[in-house]
Amino acid sequence: MQVQQRILVTGCNGQIGQVLVPALQQRYGKQNVFHSDVRGDVPIHLDVTDTTALLKLVQEIRPTMIYHLAAVLSATGERDPVRAWQVNLNGYFNVLEAAVACKVERVFFPSTIAVYGPDAPREATPDDAPTRPTTIYGIAKAAGENLAAWYRKKHGLDVRVLRYPGIIGWESAPGGGTTDYAVEIYHAAVDGQRFRCPLSAQRALPMLAMADAVRGTIEYMEADAEKILQPSGYNLGGFSGAPADFAGAIQQRMPDFAIDYVPDHRDAIAASWPEGLNDSAARRDWGWQPQYDLQALTAAMLGHIGAARAARAAEAAGKVVPNAAANAA
Ligand SMILES: NC(=O)c1ccc[n+]([C@@H]2O[C@H](COP(=O)([O-])OP(=O)(O)OC[C@H]3O[C@@H](n4cnc5c(N)ncnc54)[C@H](O)[C@@H]3O)[C@@H](O)[C@H]2O)c1
Repeated sequence: MQVQQRILVTGCNGQIGQVLVPALQQRYGKQNVFHSDVRGDVPIHLDVTDTTALLKLVQEIRPTMIYHLAAVLSATGERDPVRAWQVNLNGYFNVLEAAVACKVERVFFPSTIAVYGPDAPREATPDDAPTRPTTIYGIAKAAGENLAAWYRKKHGLDVRVLRYPGIIGWESAPGGGTTDYAVEIYHAAVDGQRFRCPLSAQRALPMLAMADAVRGTIEYMEADAEKILQPSGYNLGGFSGAPADFAGAIQQRMPDFAIDYVPDHRDAIAASWPEGLNDSAARRDWGWQPQYDLQALTAAMLGHIGAARAARAAEAAGKVVPNAAANAA
């Protein structure tokens, strides 16, 4: 497809948006990426539940693509189900309606492993496993997948859906999901802190490196339309890992790292989700290929977080460490 695009991003100030936006800017040019959020220091303030403001913005920008990231994540959603529903379903509905009204070519909707409930196969969960989720987050996202297929059929809108696992990166902080621990554990290790893990030791979940997720998402959105054969979305797999696996990978490099397992409500959420994903359809249809496994990701996480800490400490001490993060593993 042609590289000249105008892109609107919602929810740009979150864990994924902070990494995806620079990648989109690099690919399509800064002037062609319009990024918005309801919070933070962002160029465009947009609450996606504000139907009028959203439509007005889409009419002004006339994007060719919308990356709709705005959401309330799983753990936060269980505590505030009304807001989770309003943002995750009504906000998304507003995006789809505005996209149809303004003839947007493509919309990206990030779904989640949370669409699968306890009756889905837990190992190598396939795309067509039953979606009977038990969290408000999963229920709204499962409805969102069906909406994607409906808008495609009814309006010819090219809505593309990926079911992300837990996303792990060094660049940004996670935003209230059940897999947040898999980022926080690395920060604790670099800080020399004992880590209090909210999931039980063997609670395996599918995980994916941020770098893979961002690259895969852009590749998917650029794939030719005839390659997208699953209208309600594709699993996007990386590797499967439990807290004890992450702790073990860290301890290979930092033998003094210590962890306590203190499962809370997030462990119950995780228990209803898959342990690993079957993403063979994404690999077959549009060429998905993750690059990071747990070992490679652990080396990169510890390297980048450690380099950023060292640079901050040197700065505080009045020294300059040129390009420290870029030299990390
Ligand atoms: N991070 C993961 O592990 C993961 C896994 C599966 C799916 N996803 C999905 O990917 C998308 C991005 O996730 P993330 O991790 O960056 O989430 P995040 O919570 O870090 O960021 C979400 C952003 O949405 C914004 N937002 C919330 N309500 C809004 C509103 N009413 N209007 C506009 N913006 C609003 C928030 O301010 C926040 O900056 C979400 O749709 C999420 O469901 C993420």
